[in-house]
Amino acid sequence: MSSIEKMFMLYGLPLPRETHSVDSLKFAQDFKFKDDDVVAVTYPKSGTIWMQEILPLVLNGGDLTPIHTIPNWDRVPWLEEKRLAVVVDQLASPRALVSHFPYHLMPPSFSTSKAKVIYVMRNPKDLMVSSYYFHQMAEFLEDPGTFDEFMDKFLEGKVLFGKWTDHIKSWTKTELGDRIMFITYEDMVQDLPAALRRISSFLGRNLSEEVIQKIAEHCSFKTMKSNRMSNFSLVPKVYMDNDKSHFFRKGITGDWKNHFSSEQLARFTSVIRKELEGESFSLPWSM
Ligand code: A3P
Repeated sequence: MSSIEKMFMLYGLPLPRETHSVDSLKFAQDFKFKDDDVVAVTYPKSGTIWMQEILPLVLNGGDLTPIHTIPNWDRVPWLEEKRLAVVVDQLASPRALVSHFPYHLMPPSFSTSKAKVIYVMRNPKDLMVSSYYFHQMAEFLEDPGTFDEFMDKFLEGKVLFGKWTDHIKSWTKTELGDRIMFITYEDMVQDLPAALRRISSFLGRNLSEEVIQKIAEHCSFKTMKSNRMSNFSLVPKVYMDNDKSHFFRKGITGDWKNHFSSEQLARFTSVIRKELEGESFSLPWSM
């Protein structure tokens, strides 16, 4: 498949044909949110699969059954992907979903419901590095080219789900009040039990310290990397080639320092700063 055929544009966003379609986006628009639904929203490579592990555990008091028996994409499906239509009727309440949608693409039923959102942010330099390797191993995405070429594409928004700055701007401007919680990938790496306490309290789950520690253990990078229901080893190599780069690649913060030249850092920082000029929120990382 040529690079152009692998992606298509919808709502101004580049999307992969393998997982998304006009019908899947329509299905997402018609999706009926329930008040006790939870959706983890991320720009790609910010910790989506991590939340697909965390949410069922937090919502079900640490019961390991879902993460050991259901593949992550069916356990906590993407709102916008084709697979949701197949599994929607099997999702037990309280339902957990993930989404890469910018805020304005959330379906009408989301605004009228009381469904909660956990927005996970990650330092854009690190997520760009992660995305670069992901484009190498995910055969349904365009070849990233060189790291320098990929940086240009990323800054121009010619990548999965468009510009990172547009995504973050859209979700920091909502009027969702206490329905939305912001957390960073960096917080989760630094102190996962503390992040889990915040998440469980936001979701109204009063979990004992013992359960928090158990969830933290099962959501560690090492444990998730060996969970075949989460590490994409069930996906045929023609779609995801773990020999080219493992989905669970490094799971660290600051890997951008091993990849960016000083010229690339200056270019990246100048574009991001310019695009966020005048915004009322401040980023949790120095840029
Ligand atoms: P790296 O490529 O930097 O290792 P997403 O799920 O949004 O596609 O994000 C994937 C990134 O999250 C990858 O980053 C992956 O390793 C990281 N990740 C997934 N689970 C993790 C965990 N338990 N701890 C730390 N990082 C994790």
